[in-house]
Amino acid sequence: VENRQDFKVADLSLAEFGRKEITLAEHEMPGLMAIRKEYAEAQPLAGARITGSLHMTVQTAVLIETLVALGAQVRWASCNIFSTQDHAAAAIAVGPDGTPDNPRGVPVFAWKGETLEEYWWCTEQALTWPDSPTGGPNMILDDGGDATLLVHKGVEYEKAGEVPALETAESDEHRVILQLLHRTLGENPQKWTQLASEIRGVTEETTTGVHRLYEMQRDGSLLFPAINVNDAVTKSKFDNKYGCRHSLVDGINRATDVLIGGKTAVVCGYGDVGKGCAESLRGQGARVIVTEIDPICALQAAMDGYQVTTLDEVVETADIFITTTGNKDIIMASDMARMKHQAIVGNIGHFDNEIDMAGLAKVPGIVKDEVKPQVHTWTFPDGKKIIVLSEGRLLNLGNATGHPSFVMSNSFADQTLAQIELFTKPDAYPIGVYTLPKHLDEKVARLHLDALGVKLTKLRPEQAAYIGVDVDGPYKPDHYRY
Ligand code: NAI
Repeated sequence: VENRQDFKVADLSLAEFGRKEITLAEHEMPGLMAIRKEYAEAQPLAGARITGSLHMTVQTAVLIETLVALGAQVRWASCNIFSTQDHAAAAIAVGPDGTPDNPRGVPVFAWKGETLEEYWWCTEQALTWPDSPTGGPNMILDDGGDATLLVHKGVEYEKAGEVPALETAESDEHRVILQLLHRTLGENPQKWTQLASEIRGVTEETTTGVHRLYEMQRDGSLLFPAINVNDAVTKSKFDNKYGCRHSLVDGINRATDVLIGGKTAVVCGYGDVGKGCAESLRGQGARVIVTEIDPICALQAAMDGYQVTTLDEVVETADIFITTTGNKDIIMASDMARMKHQAIVGNIGHFDNEIDMAGLAKVPGIVKDEVKPQVHTWTFPDGKKIIVLSEGRLLNLGNATGHPSFVMSNSFADQTLAQIELFTKPDAYPIGVYTLPKHLDEKVARLHLDALGVKLTKLRPEQAAYIGVDVDGPYKPDHYRY
């Protein structure tokens, strides 16, 4: 692919539409806008070269322009093949001062409907900095850990002196990654080692990416410090829950326009995402059934009034199935074979392995038909059809536009503060995985109160002394669970 302009998006003429929506979003993102104002003079990210791999939506555009406003240089890719909003990507490439004929924005490599090859090419472009001493970034902002994974795999194979043979690939996507690394090893056997050498750290957005980071920390392969943004309270207890409460039904509605009221919906997993999803379906009048493996979450679901049972019990009778587990093999092809005609199957977890799409494609005689992009029917030999959303990838971003601005203002304020922490205080964060200090978590919440007309009660000094906290917080110990 030609890369003369140092960006690749679907259609630059969408930039004006993108800019209008970015302007509307800014008003709904008071946390990010307050941070822009607070740090305008200090420019704490001056000198930062941030590679971002995160859904290229309107809200992400406001994040990118916040990082730039704080002094950073930025290169960006989406972290999912279906999640880009092309008008947001166009507006970022053009920039606030550019025009489609004279784009002057941020190098962004993202469009809706990438192939897997294109997806990993985009990730590589975001990590490749033409004017940097190492050829790479000095900070990563990740969602799901793909940019971090590419750097770590690159370094691992460069140390070993070889990349595993393509035949060893466990999936199509794995083969694409191995292919890419075979190429880079041929071009420059030190590419990833050099590139990693100057990376001060990564801030990771989501549960699944955080899980990968802790694994690398445990096995000693983590190359640089990481901040687990997901487990900021103002992230996972808001974005994962209230964000999905909004965007799950948005995705189902845009994809199918099926009436949810009165239907039976199964939500697999009752973590933060599952809690938001179950509430959103119940809000539409569905009868919601939850599946869980964790007794605590199962008990929570029961206490919240949901029936909790196994998929096996309800697979033949339910109308809508949503996976939210971050785990693999939740709904298998053999389950889908037992579902009702026109049952709807979708996933909102980070990766596409919760639903056994590979197994579904292998059912003898099955026929896949596209209703519209990201909505497919799969017809079994007996004529029964099921409807699969976003080919098993996260449907709230594939079929709709992801979470709305206000909730993302919290997540992205956390991201921005985490970037500032790691970039400006490298000595405070030796290699390891950290959560955001609680005073910053509370700060992010505070930045969102005025917009909702919230009046906070002021803690009096004698009260503060009585419960053993500072008048200005933090108000809870680190072990408190909210
Ligand atoms: P979580 O860990 O809080 O919840 C997952 C739940 O699934 C846990 O309670 C776990 O016990 C349960 N589970 C695991 N295996 C199961 C199985 N076989 N059957 C039934 N339940 C099972 O994680 P969280 O924060 O809810 O995130 C879930 C996924 O959603 C992750 O992949 C995360 O990255 C992703 N995510 C997606 C978002 C989106 O906008 N689409 C937003 C935030 C997170």
